[in-house]
Amino acid sequence: PKEQGWSISNLYLYQGFWCSALTLKPLISFQTHFQAFDSDVIVATFPKCGTTWLKALTFSTLYRDRFARDENPFLSSTPHQLVRFLEQDVYVNNPCPDLDNICVYNKPRLFSTHVPYASLPTSIKDSRCKIVYLCRNPMDMFVSLWHFAEKLRDESKELPSLDEAFDKSCRGIHAFGPFFDHVLGYWKASQENPDQILFLKYEDLKEDISCEVKQLAMFLGVPFTEDEEKQGVVEEIAKICSFEELKKLEVNNKGLDVIGIPHKDFFRKGKVGDWKNYLTPYMVERLEKLIHQKLESSGLTFRLSL
Ligand code: A3P
Repeated sequence: PKEQGWSISNLYLYQGFWCSALTLKPLISFQTHFQAFDSDVIVATFPKCGTTWLKALTFSTLYRDRFARDENPFLSSTPHQLVRFLEQDVYVNNPCPDLDNICVYNKPRLFSTHVPYASLPTSIKDSRCKIVYLCRNPMDMFVSLWHFAEKLRDESKELPSLDEAFDKSCRGIHAFGPFFDHVLGYWKASQENPDQILFLKYEDLKEDISCEVKQLAMFLGVPFTEDEEKQGVVEEIAKICSFEELKKLEVNNKGLDVIGIPHKDFFRKGKVGDWKNYLTPYMVERLEKLIHQKLESSGLTFRLSL
């Protein structure tokens, strides 16, 4: 089955999820050829749930001893250049890339993906590599995706109206969707295998970033020492990765990523609850019902505001 995408390309139903025509080939190369190491770290997200933020946080937490305290890696590279997407970047131009030359640092290697848990290469699931998953409430995800699609719009194509896009989103038709299958896939896997998968929420990061960064470091096997905590390393990481700091850097305001998306489009408002400015009462009611129906008995909850 095929559906018109929201902005740049058509979507095809592949292994039960909607995959952009641009991503299908590299995704298959990734699934076929990727060999995971036990030491690998993979950042996994549904689009618009805070991927850029999680990349920055994971990179700076994991490699904090590799760069001097005063040398901020984000001054010269975007989070997406520091932590590259497997299916949307690394495998785009080469079915068998030299992965050792892809990462900024090799031990551990750090990659990212939007691929649903069920479709990850078996080598990832069979290894002991670590996966950090970040989700976000579906109302803010939808509003963020809507704005993103608007910016990426091909002038020759008409973008679905907010109502149409909302309907598609509720029916799970968006790249890597259905959203709920994506989130629940990683949620269940994280419940079954908490040593391999850490499940984080955007809203929790917004509420208490220091606590979440410490949890992230612990999970990655690099907990902060007492000395580091006293020196304020946790707060420093939170600051250099914050929306306000990253958004103002020149490197994040110029140029395009590998698939042609302007770097600046990854930074919009960075807030919890912006959906209140866009969704009608009817939309809110429909999505609330859907959340209830999809998450029922899963143990997973979303916070719609802080
Ligand atoms: P909004 O459109 O709601 O502002 P992704 O990185 O997965 O593409 O998600 C993009 C969303 O995360 C956008 O949300 C963007 O503004 C927000 N974002 C980007 N960097 C962030 C950061 N450092 N902290 C918090 N939110 C961030």
